[in-house]
Amino acid sequence: MTVPTSQPDAGRYAFVPGGPPYPTIVDAQGCFLVTDDGRRILDGAAGAIVGNIGWGRTEVAAAAAAVMPMGYVVPLWPTPSRLALLDELVQHWLPAGFHHVFFTSGGSESTDSSLRLARAYQVAKGRPGRWKVIGRHPSYHGMTTGTMAVASHSARQKGYEPLLLPFPKVPWDDPQEMLRIIEQEDPATIAGFIVEPITGAAGACLTASDAYWQAVTDICRQHDILLIADEVMTGFGRTGLPFGHLHFPLQPDVIVGGKGLGGGYVPLGAVAARDEVAEALQGSGFMYFTFTGNDAACAAGLTVLQIMRREQLVQRSASQGAVLGQRLRAEFGNHPAISDIRGRGMFYGLQLRCSRDAVVMAALARDLWVYPAGSGPVPEAVMVAPPFVISDDEIDQLVGTLRAAIDDVHPT
Ligand SMILES: Cc1ncc(COP(=O)(O)O)c(C=O)c1O
Repeated sequence: MTVPTSQPDAGRYAFVPGGPPYPTIVDAQGCFLVTDDGRRILDGAAGAIVGNIGWGRTEVAAAAAAVMPMGYVVPLWPTPSRLALLDELVQHWLPAGFHHVFFTSGGSESTDSSLRLARAYQVAKGRPGRWKVIGRHPSYHGMTTGTMAVASHSARQKGYEPLLLPFPKVPWDDPQEMLRIIEQEDPATIAGFIVEPITGAAGACLTASDAYWQAVTDICRQHDILLIADEVMTGFGRTGLPFGHLHFPLQPDVIVGGKGLGGGYVPLGAVAARDEVAEALQGSGFMYFTFTGNDAACAAGLTVLQIMRREQLVQRSASQGAVLGQRLRAEFGNHPAISDIRGRGMFYGLQLRCSRDAVVMAALARDLWVYPAGSGPVPEAVMVAPPFVISDDEIDQLVGTLRAAIDDVHPT
């Protein structure tokens, strides 16, 4: 294999000039990233909150390699890997009544497809006046122009506004205000409502109440609004259950997945729809992407999900996640730089009173990676979301290093 082990010209990377210098990664094992100069960086964010099963899983690579020589198969045609991944999802992951899945190559494609799905569904039901998808403030659903328009993440939208459709926005926690805005917009124009069950990078684990989710579910049902759960970050065990919506009385019609589905090994996403929704679209020709259901990605994703079940990693996310939560609260509960700690499973947000970029870089200088987060009402935050395989000692190392980094930026 001819993988270069060092890149003397790494300074030319990345595409966007002026960003901070990041180390060159040449290997990864478990919860650690290895740099070209031998540093071992503790991956406290599983990359971009992607690597649920941890790194160095040769079994996943072998599964992809085994089917790769076949090359490309048109998305509409079945392959053994596609069918097996579909079966795995339907039999072991998705709620009852979800037998239809559309694959993509990532989160943005999936959420964007769900917007299209909401529109196509309403048209198929004879409601062509419905096109708006309501988003929550704050939220993040991806970087296509459609997903940027439906989300509310000021920093990531800035400058692109003329490209973005004027989708209505509602506060993340207020069902009365949601109802008011639906009435104001006219329910006959609303196709869908897209939600993160626990807000990811835009809000660093903002968590609405059960009463909120029950009201949202009821309002959507009453008004024939398709309820879309964006589980790109919260799905596949991240919050300690297979999907984040399962913590709440939130009953989606569409479930969108990405990140943890491929475990960070392959670009893979999925949109699953309740049978009644998918069946309404029969014959309407829902267009695919060229790489929809890429065969090697499906083979790898299947292996990722099988590993999760074999090693009971969703349960581990809940149990080790509780340990992580306790350690974070014990260390930072009274820290002057921290205004809130929230989350569950392997999914925590620390809201900061100091610069998140300074904290992220101070942590990285100490060989710890945590995820920068926040927008709108949550201006500065970091997220702690390691692989589910993290050990007690590694949790201690993570929390101790993060403490040193935060103390550096905001001395007590
Ligand atoms: C909730 C949510 N939806 C969608 C996306 C977009 O996914 P991707 O970056 O894979 O396109 C992300 C990415 O962080 C996300 O957190």
